[in-house]
Amino acid sequence: SQDKPWGGRFSEPTDRFVEAFTASVDFDRRLYRHDIEGSMAHARMLARVGVLTDAECRQILEGLELVRAEIESGDFDWSVSLEDVHMNVEARLTQRIGDVGKKLHTGRSRNDQVATDIRLYLREAIDDLMAELRRLQRGLLDLAEREAATVMPGFTHLQTAQPVTFGHHMMAWFEMLERDHARLGDCRRRVNVLPLGSAALAGTPYPLDRHYTAELLGFDAVSDNSLDAVSDRDFAIEFCAAGALIMTHLSRFSEELVLWASAQFGFVDLPDRFCTGSSIMPQKKNPDVPELVRGKTGRVNGNLVSLLTLMKAQPLAYNKDNQEDKEPLFDTVDTLAGSLRAFADMVPHIQVRAAAMEEATRKGFATATDLADYLVRKGMAFRDAHEVVGRAVRHGLETGRDLGEMELEELRRFSTTIEADVFDVLTLQGSLAARNVHGGTAPDQVRARIQEARARIGTG
Ligand code: ARG
Repeated sequence: SQDKPWGGRFSEPTDRFVEAFTASVDFDRRLYRHDIEGSMAHARMLARVGVLTDAECRQILEGLELVRAEIESGDFDWSVSLEDVHMNVEARLTQRIGDVGKKLHTGRSRNDQVATDIRLYLREAIDDLMAELRRLQRGLLDLAEREAATVMPGFTHLQTAQPVTFGHHMMAWFEMLERDHARLGDCRRRVNVLPLGSAALAGTPYPLDRHYTAELLGFDAVSDNSLDAVSDRDFAIEFCAAGALIMTHLSRFSEELVLWASAQFGFVDLPDRFCTGSSIMPQKKNPDVPELVRGKTGRVNGNLVSLLTLMKAQPLAYNKDNQEDKEPLFDTVDTLAGSLRAFADMVPHIQVRAAAMEEATRKGFATATDLADYLVRKGMAFRDAHEVVGRAVRHGLETGRDLGEMELEELRRFSTTIEADVFDVLTLQGSLAARNVHGGTAPDQVRARIQEARARIGTG
């Protein structure tokens, strides 16, 4: 036998390399708070059902408090030979309070313990991330409100398509993040189920009151099948999938900010404090934050695939493979937290260059569809109108002018249906105001959506 909590049946010590190879303490120690919280609830429940005396329970709770304080003060001696956070905490507890510490693990296995710890950890992470998403969304709402009538070119195929407002464009990002927020909330409901009491895989003969443990830990429900509860990590996969979507949204947003901040677009200025310079080119101001967020999307997508692959061939119930669930999960949490924080801090300070956006909108025949719709209102079939406007655009390309810059007589060469009132629809503001459908870019519509959104998400 040896120093291991499970050393009894072994006749030689673990190989040194194997010890390090199988250990997880270097990364799972971040679960210490949740591990201790779970153990405290377990001890209180054991006392309530009479497995521990009240005095034993009190000693264990005080001991766990001491261990927590030690860890937080930085002088906890993490031991690789004790493998993981669970056995490190438990071993230290027994060192501190003596043999009574050995009773804590009654009716429990590391299998249901670790599943509980991860769920407690992830629930907290989800709450933090949802709050950070809201902060970013509020920044977008403020920006959208300021720029609700600011014209910019809307693109398809990255070619100028129709005028939209900058506020409308920001609200598109808001909506994506709104669904992301809802997805995390949905995921949280499936995370917030207590595995403890499942023990190693089959449940336990002790008369545990699992509902009491759940209540102490703030879980909404207890798991209904012990094999499932100790082995599946679908809740972590679901979280990583929601995380991959968040990063995908931030990555597309990043791509636009990088383009818009370039000299060629010149649509926005990013605050200096979110950018960096070049060591050789003195003029450079690089949009590092959006670039990095775009880049970090790769690892978050990778984490999702890692977890899916980790689970795909595991027989029930727990397998050591599952120890590999933590690093991808933690990395997704950390990457999301950093990326959302950077965006939430940066977005309210984006400076919009309204004149440049308006000029760009004027250049790309963005009101061509408006002219076609005008002809339709005057009785022409849409396909014919499309052809007429197409010829006018070709003329504009040849003479270097947009539709709104042509004389009435010049426009009438393409159709005598065109009259002086055409210039109402060829103005950018006219084009915007015309798209007065729910969800459209008309400034009044954008403002209405912003008000609804504010009411929906509150002021935090
Ligand atoms: N460190 C392990 C993990 O992260 C804890 C559970 C280990 N259980 C076991 N029977 N080896 O999954």
